[in-house]
Amino acid sequence: MKDNYDLVVIGGGPGGYVAAIRAAQLGMSVACIEKRIYKGEPALGGTCLNVGCIPSKALLDTSHRFEATKHDLDEHGISTGDVTIDIEQMIGRKEAIVKQLTGGIEGLFKGNGIDWLQGWGTLLDGKGSDKKVKFVADDDAESTITAKNVILASGSIPIDIPVAKTDHDRIVDSTGALDFTETPKRLGVIGAGVIGLELGSVWRRLGSEVVVYEALPSFLATADKDMAKEAAKMFKKQGLDIRVDTKVIKAEVQGDEVVVTSENKGESSEQRFDKLIVCVGRRAYSEKLLGEDSGIKLTERGLIDVDDQCKTNLDGVYAIGDLVRGPMLAHKASEEGIMAVERMHGEKAQINYDTIINVIYTHPEIAWVGLTEQEATDAGYEVKTGSFNLAANGRALAQSEAEGSIKVVADAKTDRLLGMHAIAAGAGDIVHQGMIAMEFVSSIEDLQLMTFAHPTISEAVHEAALSADGRPIHA
Ligand code: FAD
Ligand code: NAI
Repeated sequence: MKDNYDLVVIGGGPGGYVAAIRAAQLGMSVACIEKRIYKGEPALGGTCLNVGCIPSKALLDTSHRFEATKHDLDEHGISTGDVTIDIEQMIGRKEAIVKQLTGGIEGLFKGNGIDWLQGWGTLLDGKGSDKKVKFVADDDAESTITAKNVILASGSIPIDIPVAKTDHDRIVDSTGALDFTETPKRLGVIGAGVIGLELGSVWRRLGSEVVVYEALPSFLATADKDMAKEAAKMFKKQGLDIRVDTKVIKAEVQGDEVVVTSENKGESSEQRFDKLIVCVGRRAYSEKLLGEDSGIKLTERGLIDVDDQCKTNLDGVYAIGDLVRGPMLAHKASEEGIMAVERMHGEKAQINYDTIINVIYTHPEIAWVGLTEQEATDAGYEVKTGSFNLAANGRALAQSEAEGSIKVVADAKTDRLLGMHAIAAGAGDIVHQGMIAMEFVSSIEDLQLMTFAHPTISEAVHEAALSADGRPIHA
């Protein structure tokens, strides 16, 4: 550890660690302060690598293979014996993947000459040209380091609700739900958002009866309405019991059970579960991040105030990722980290926040980029849309994944593509075509004129574009 750095990053998640690496590439001396202890060991990688994106996708993969092996092979003429799942092995595989990736970041830090300071960081004073950061190491040794630039990247934590306080045993948050030691027979989930759908799907596939409570009257309120409707049908068919417009008013542990009382249209009912996952959103995490004289301006809601380039009110102090406004997504955090570093290096980096992709990694996946039909209408566009159902896509049928559709949203006046929405196996990859097209200000006609390979699911993108002008070939 040195006394002075070009850059100190507080937080080693996908925002902070990527920023640190980019800064080192640009020749800066960099320290990254990260306090996380994961399973007894200090760990880089933040929420995403340790208890978020990666472990959840590992469990989604195992549970999908299990369900597909159990139910989808008959039609191919493949028979298997009894299909069973060893939960301990599944969790062990997940841990190995997490360890490989977080260890990989440690290796990248070493390779790039970045000092990983294991402990807490607090911005004491960000006002002058030498910013002061307090570092409290894991062994409680305290020191003050100075830096020309600081990036605040302390991420987010789950929101706790008073009616269902987590006890890390029967009532858990997303982190607890990644570590069940057996499949709960009855699983309750509060919140039909991304975590509820992904982790609810994992345990349903492995045999849980899952009930998901959603307070809002609509399902997937931020998705395109047509896609949300299609997704709701799909989850119902899969056996996820999603109860919209239903508020949990009490959740109480009684012996080995959690008793949940919920209310729908004034009527209350009670249900018993073995486990309850609370996933009602996350909040920015800034405890101990700012000293009293840090000089950082907060918004009315107490968040760190940043502009479109993640600059705070203080020169040379940036804040990125889940800590600041915008969607709480790993790729958004990482790109903000790169933008902040390149800005402090005098470059003109800029993120296009209009093309940040959302993916829900269920099976099939639900993904979108850009405007929904409703958002485009509300923004004053004369909207045209085109959709194509995967039931008419040869590749989707050939691989027994013909559930879902692709929808494009465009400006009828200029033909410009405004959004792409997909429910499909690999939808998360497919909508990247929409992102690239939108970045290049493509029109629906551009998509119509391109030759898509046959047979691919991407042909449905071509057909959706053709259908926007009423001329799909296979519908
Ligand atoms: P974080 O990853 O939260 O990292 C911040 C780090 O800062 C933490 O490790 C914390 O220990 C450390 N820290 C905080 N305060 C201090 C301090 N004062 N001193 C030192 N260190 C500090 N996003 C996706 O894009 N795709 C997904 O598939 C996806 N899946 C998810 C699944 C789950 C179950 C969850 C919970 C989240 C998921 N996310 C996903 C969201 C994603 O994890 C976050 O958007 C992302 O991790 C944000 O990155 P960040 O760097 O801003 O913060
Ligand atoms: P979320 O915001 O996606 O969903 C929370 C849901 O809970 C909402 O539908 C909300 O209406 C509902 N809700 C809120 N309070 C409630 C209450 N008291 N009772 C019942 N329902 C209630 O939040 P979630 O699922 O916790 O995930 C947090 C964030 O983590 C996401 O917003 C996303 O940014 C990130 N994430 C991203 C993933 C991905 O990109 N695939 C996967 C998992 C998480």
